[in-house]
Amino acid sequence: MASSGIPGEAYERQQALVDKLIRDGNLTDPRVEAAFRAVPRHLFLPDLTLEEAYRDDAIPTKRLPDGEVVSSSSQPAIMAIMLEQLALEPGQRVLEIGAGTGYNAALIAFILGETGQVIAIDIDEDIVQAARDHLAAAGFGNVMVVQGDGAHGYPEAAPYDRIILTVAAWDLAPAWCEQLQPDGRLVLPLDIKGSQKCVAFQPENRHLVSLSARPCAFMGLRGALAAPNTTLTFGPQAELHLEMDAPVPASPDELYALLKGPYRDFTTEIQTGQYEVFDSLNLWLGIHEPGYFRLWGEGKQARYVPPLLAYRQSHRATFGLLSANSLCALVRSPAEPSAPPPDTFSLAVRLFGPDEGLASRLIDQVIAWDATGRPDTNRLHIRAYPRAHSAASAPDAVVVDKHWTRLVLDWG
Ligand SMILES: C[S@@+](CC[C@H](N)C(=O)[O-])C[C@H]1O[C@@H](n2cnc3c(N)ncnc32)[C@H](O)[C@@H]1O
Repeated sequence: MASSGIPGEAYERQQALVDKLIRDGNLTDPRVEAAFRAVPRHLFLPDLTLEEAYRDDAIPTKRLPDGEVVSSSSQPAIMAIMLEQLALEPGQRVLEIGAGTGYNAALIAFILGETGQVIAIDIDEDIVQAARDHLAAAGFGNVMVVQGDGAHGYPEAAPYDRIILTVAAWDLAPAWCEQLQPDGRLVLPLDIKGSQKCVAFQPENRHLVSLSARPCAFMGLRGALAAPNTTLTFGPQAELHLEMDAPVPASPDELYALLKGPYRDFTTEIQTGQYEVFDSLNLWLGIHEPGYFRLWGEGKQARYVPPLLAYRQSHRATFGLLSANSLCALVRSPAEPSAPPPDTFSLAVRLFGPDEGLASRLIDQVIAWDATGRPDTNRLHIRAYPRAHSAASAPDAVVVDKHWTRLVLDWG
């Protein structure tokens, strides 16, 4: 097992990263802290400089020929949050779906100690091989890394006290519940109408109930449980992307023409910030409006995306409502992009096309969201029922149906 007596620069940087995670409020559990202090991340990212390996950043480690990132070392902050949600105990048996570099599996193995067992599964053989090499180099050769589609879990070593996904799921696979101990815990990034939440679930009478939820952003599962592809890419350089759960009621050319055309802005008088918009308003609109879309752009064409969320200078995102002839998106007001965006701003809606009713609907939803106290992820409570069984619902609950699962959401 890896030792904490790492000398020199790597050790200094590693401890500084842990100090930052604590300062930012993302790491509070002493057992998780001890694991982060002991397991050296740079051994799982051998091609990076020490400075890069100990940034609190997600690090892409495998790309497809078109540039799409299909594996990464997750951001340490969200890893710490999820490991705390997982509430590991020494001696447990844990399945990790999404082995990646092997770093998270090593952190888990450190917490479980000699009597525990970690099985990490990844869909790509080259990733599995690299994870094995990294784990061996770091002294965690006892972690078992297998190749397979995590949608089926790993029945050979079930049942598990804990199952964690470090890759986003659009639905809950029946196999995960079947392979979980009755008093076990499942932690995963779950897609709910385009918003991702890291949810800790525990079983209760043939369904799952959430214990906690946190906002997050992970790449999606590939394989049998890959999310339905609902992204429409458009614009001359294919730099604009629109995603919605329903069929898009406009062609790529119509969308591009709308975004390049004239628009009108309407104020909502609501003050907010990027985090609240991303964490709370996003999900609110997704669950209340069938015409809800997410729009993002990169490169030169990003200028056609109304500025709401700005990740980098050349990457903008927003969301809103789409009808047959109009698109209405949320925008910061004043709308001229400033980089970085201000902490708080007032919210406006930008209407492309003639449908003023669409703008009124979007404004009404923003006002309703505000009047309901801007429900945030920390208050989110989810029950997940197999679709095969009838699912109870509460009067104030929202129902989101997936292929296998019915999610029932409320905010306490
Ligand atoms: C964000 S990375 C995981 C990071 C990893 N936990 C670490 O510590 O480095 C997500 C991983 O999930 C894997 N993955 C995607 N779909 C999968 C599937 N259906 N089954 C198993 N692994 C999958 C990807 O290949 C990728 O390596």
